[in-house]
Amino acid sequence: MKLTEREEQLRTEFDRWALAGRGDEMEQHHWPIVQPVLERTCFQPCDRVLDIGCGTGWLVRAIAARIPNGRVAGIDVSVEMIERARRLSSDFQNAEFRTGSVDHLPWSDGSFTKVASVESAYYWPDPDSGVNEAVRVLAWGGSLWILINYYRDNPYCHQWGPLLPVTTHLLAADEWVEIFSRAGLRDVIYSRIADPTPVPEVYTGRWFQDADQLRRFQEEGALWVQGTHP
Ligand SMILES: C[S@@+](CC[C@H](N)C(=O)[O-])C[C@H]1O[C@@H](n2cnc3c(N)ncnc32)[C@H](O)[C@@H]1O
Repeated sequence: MKLTEREEQLRTEFDRWALAGRGDEMEQHHWPIVQPVLERTCFQPCDRVLDIGCGTGWLVRAIAARIPNGRVAGIDVSVEMIERARRLSSDFQNAEFRTGSVDHLPWSDGSFTKVASVESAYYWPDPDSGVNEAVRVLAWGGSLWILINYYRDNPYCHQWGPLLPVTTHLLAADEWVEIFSRAGLRDVIYSRIADPTPVPEVYTGRWFQDADQLRRFQEEGALWVQGTHP
C-alpha cells in the first residue's frame, strides 16, 4: 500500500528514532503506565490481539508470553521499528509483525478479539479514520484501548507538539471518547494512569522544563480510553 505524504513523514521520523535506539528506550519509559492496564485486561487463552504503533514490539512479546495459545500481532509505520521487533521476537511462535499504517490494516474484518495502542494514537493522520479501521478488524464483543501521554487535559505535555517534526493531535479525553463512540464502540470509558517512576532531582532532557514539571506530568498520568465492539 502506497503511503500518503503524512505517513511517509511519520515513517521517516520513527525510522530515525529506531536507528537512534529510542525504540528500546520506550519500553522502559512506557512500562510503568502499561503494566496497570495489562493487569486490568482480562486476557483469554485464545485471544487474538493487535498492537497498533507497536514500535520494537515489547508489548506484543509481553502479551504473547501471557497467552501462549493465542496470537499477537504488531503493526508499525516504521520499517526500522518492525525490523527490530522481528529480530527481538524470534523466540515467540505466536507473534507476528507487519509494516503499515493504522489507516490500512492488512487484516480482514473481525480478525482480533483485542486491539491496543500505546503512545501512538495522537500521531495518527486522522484519529477518526484510525479508530474506525481499528474497529473494523475487531471481532464483535472485542475491545479497543489506547494509552497516551499527550492529551489536552494534562497541561504538562503541551510543549511537546512544537518539539516534534510531525503533526500531532492534542485532544481532550472527552474528544477521544466521542471518536470511540462515533466509531460504533459501546461502554466507552477513560481513566488516568499515574506514572510512579521516581523523578530525578535534576532533569536534563528536552521534553520538560525541569524536574518539577516532569513530576507534575507523571502525577496527572497517562490517558487510557477503552470501548467495546457491541
Ligand atoms: C512513541 S512511539 C510508541 C511505540 C510503542 N507503542 C512503545 O510504546 O514503545 C509511536 C509509534 O507509533 C508509530 N506510528 C505513528 N503513526 C503511525 C501510523 N499512522 N500507523 C502505524 N504506526 C504509527 C510510530 O512509528 C512509532 O513506532
